[in-house]
Amino acid sequence: MTNPPTSPEAKEPIYPLPEPYTPNFLRRIRRGLYSWFGLLNEWDFRIPVGALRFMGLNLLLVNDPAAVRQVMVSEVEAFPKHPYTLWILEPLIGRAIFSVNGEEWAQQRRLVDQAFQVAQLQRVLPQMEGAVEALMERLEAQVDGCTGDGGSIDGCPVDADAEMTLVTADVIVRTILSRPLEGAEAEAIFAAFARYQKRAGRALMLRFLRLPRRRLQGYLATHAAPIRAWIAAAIEARLDTGDDSSERSSPQDLLQALIEARDPQSGARFSRDGLVDQVCFLFLAGHETSASSLGMAVYLLGCFPEVQQRLRAEVLQALGSRAGAPDRTLGFDDLRQLSYGAAIFNETLRLYPPVSFFIRESQANTELAGSRCPMRALVTLSPWVVQRHEQHWSDPNAFRPERFLSDANADDRRWARDAFLPYGLGPRKCPGAAFAQQEALLVLAELVRRFEVLPDPEHEPELVARLTLRSRNGIRVRLLRLRS
Ligand code: HEM
Repeated sequence: MTNPPTSPEAKEPIYPLPEPYTPNFLRRIRRGLYSWFGLLNEWDFRIPVGALRFMGLNLLLVNDPAAVRQVMVSEVEAFPKHPYTLWILEPLIGRAIFSVNGEEWAQQRRLVDQAFQVAQLQRVLPQMEGAVEALMERLEAQVDGCTGDGGSIDGCPVDADAEMTLVTADVIVRTILSRPLEGAEAEAIFAAFARYQKRAGRALMLRFLRLPRRRLQGYLATHAAPIRAWIAAAIEARLDTGDDSSERSSPQDLLQALIEARDPQSGARFSRDGLVDQVCFLFLAGHETSASSLGMAVYLLGCFPEVQQRLRAEVLQALGSRAGAPDRTLGFDDLRQLSYGAAIFNETLRLYPPVSFFIRESQANTELAGSRCPMRALVTLSPWVVQRHEQHWSDPNAFRPERFLSDANADDRRWARDAFLPYGLGPRKCPGAAFAQQEALLVLAELVRRFEVLPDPEHEPELVARLTLRSRNGIRVRLLRLRS
């Protein structure tokens, strides 16, 4: 297909071109076995609502911003999470907050919100800094070891995807358990996650073909088992040790906060199993999504040297504006000054939303943007499609962080408000958004402060959408050490 309208000066970073239109849904499912993108047609990026019926199931793809809000905000109770969300994740996260509905969800959200008070941005900054410092040491060692001190002039090849996966998992383990994540343990866990992701995507497609749920879940459970066992052991160890809350004014970490959280309405707390479910989900939510977006942000910095240079100047200015600069680490107030850095991260989330689709189930016959939505329809909302939709964004596939600056033009400001949903919308919106943004700014700022990121001309990421959006073949860039 030809790319959507793009102004001559706009340079487009990679994305999988949608396939030409085909009414044959079976063919699309076959493509979808590999990546969810295979279900999409080029046409989907032009229409407000797409609808079809397949093996007795009504499927809707909702792109119109007002209809998206209807589903996720104003009529949220009429569109709960689809049962497929629960069963595809159940082997891994049980009945954790993300996939349940109604009062079961509301009570968990009250407890999680309470525990998140502990993960306040200023309090978790030291844990983030520890993990980011460990990342910088790893990168410096790689670059120095490449061809002598400082690496070659072409830079040293680094897999940004693997490094971002490790640093974000390290951040979340430090925040939840108050300890770093070790190399060998990390490798085993990541491998299990990667296997689960691949099989979960496939299982969802096979479910459309009516393969039995129990069989598919059994197939997934084998890959979830090592992750759940690792987390259950950490929780058991904490519960057995005990932690006398009377001796402290507030919990030491997120796990302790989850253990101590009490529902103000019912007095209920998380059970042991409930804690395992919740921590499994927080580990998944807290590292897969951030790793996905940070990997793509590093790729983009390599492709767009002028953007990288502007970010570096902003970081140095933030550091220089305070005593002790430039050798000190970036503090809480410095990070808040990085408005261009925040715009880069938002534009990365627009082009490469880590959670590229959500599914809901309609509870009654209704209408969405003028299209009929029957009861029990599977309603898909896709940040990937909405955020690249031709009728919303100008140059939808171009990388332009300026869209998210306060002096952006009126159209960009409008779409940033109405057609930007990487964290979801409404009451189910991600409570970790500010956490993720702080972590991302810290990683990107420290990276450009110490290194020049160069593209690797021999590598192109191959994007696949499963539970999260990842590159099948990693994200290779080249790093060159900067001397101060
Ligand atoms: C760039 C990073 C992140 C992205 C793009 C992201 C995206 C999302 C999205 C799209 C949802 C809701 C989807 C829906 O409505 O179906 C969600 C839910 C959630 N996220 Fe995140 N997330 C990120 C980071 C985090 C982090 C770091 C944490 C925790 C430390 C976290 C914790 C959660 C929780 C607990 C929920 C469930 C909320 C509920 O159902 O009430 N997320 N996230």
